[in-house]
Amino acid sequence: MSASGAPGRGKFITLEGGEGAGKSTQARFLAEHLRSLGHECVVTREPGGSPVAEALREVILSGVAASLGPSAETVLFAAARIDHVAQTILPALARGAFVVCDRFTDSTRVYQGALGKVDPGLIRTLEEIAMDQCRPDLTLILDLPAQTGLARAAARRAQQAADRFEAEGLAFHEGLRSAFLEIAKNEPARCKTVDAAQRPEDVGRAILALVENQFGPLAAKAGTP
Ligand code: TYD
Repeated sequence: MSASGAPGRGKFITLEGGEGAGKSTQARFLAEHLRSLGHECVVTREPGGSPVAEALREVILSGVAASLGPSAETVLFAAARIDHVAQTILPALARGAFVVCDRFTDSTRVYQGALGKVDPGLIRTLEEIAMDQCRPDLTLILDLPAQTGLARAAARRAQQAADRFEAEGLAFHEGLRSAFLEIAKNEPARCKTVDAAQRPEDVGRAILALVENQFGPLAAKAGTP
């Protein structure tokens, strides 16, 4: 609580990385931990996270929009993000909650920008519009060899077909990894890299340490049993 009695702005944490890095498992672990200390925590994902954005997610990941070309696809990701930020993220931050988001703007920079060769000017402009008042306070980049991530992703989906991006070749996924590491190198105050090849519980522990480092001890809220 701030001195006025209103909750201070919450914390916005994004999880980024290639396919099969374990982002959704780690988002769940982190949220369980924060809730066990009495904090409100909203777990969300991109593309998606609000009704309009979830509808756009279907369109984007099914591949039907791929024929529009990478620039138009980038616009679709941004449109989904605008709704997600307005409907889900900003209201939660205003309540003082933690928001843990599985992918955000760094995924656009990497998938559409670095790999899709979309004009960096367009990516920047869309980022400015979508991220108004909503920059991540901490971005955790879950890093692991592309081959390991792809094998995990294939095991997870079992018999289902690979989605649009998972179906790309190994060189594409190695490119994703380097592009995420490049962002981490350029923005060290916001971005922390985590070795995601470790056991999930060890990745979880590393993440908690990084979150405490960034925000201070995650003390239990008053009234928590
Ligand atoms: P998802 O099934 O959520 O994959 P993952 O478990 O790997 O996060 O699908 C999201 C896909 O969308 C993923 O391949 C990355 C891609 N993506 C972009 O290309 N640009 C973006 O801005 C976002 C948010 C996701």
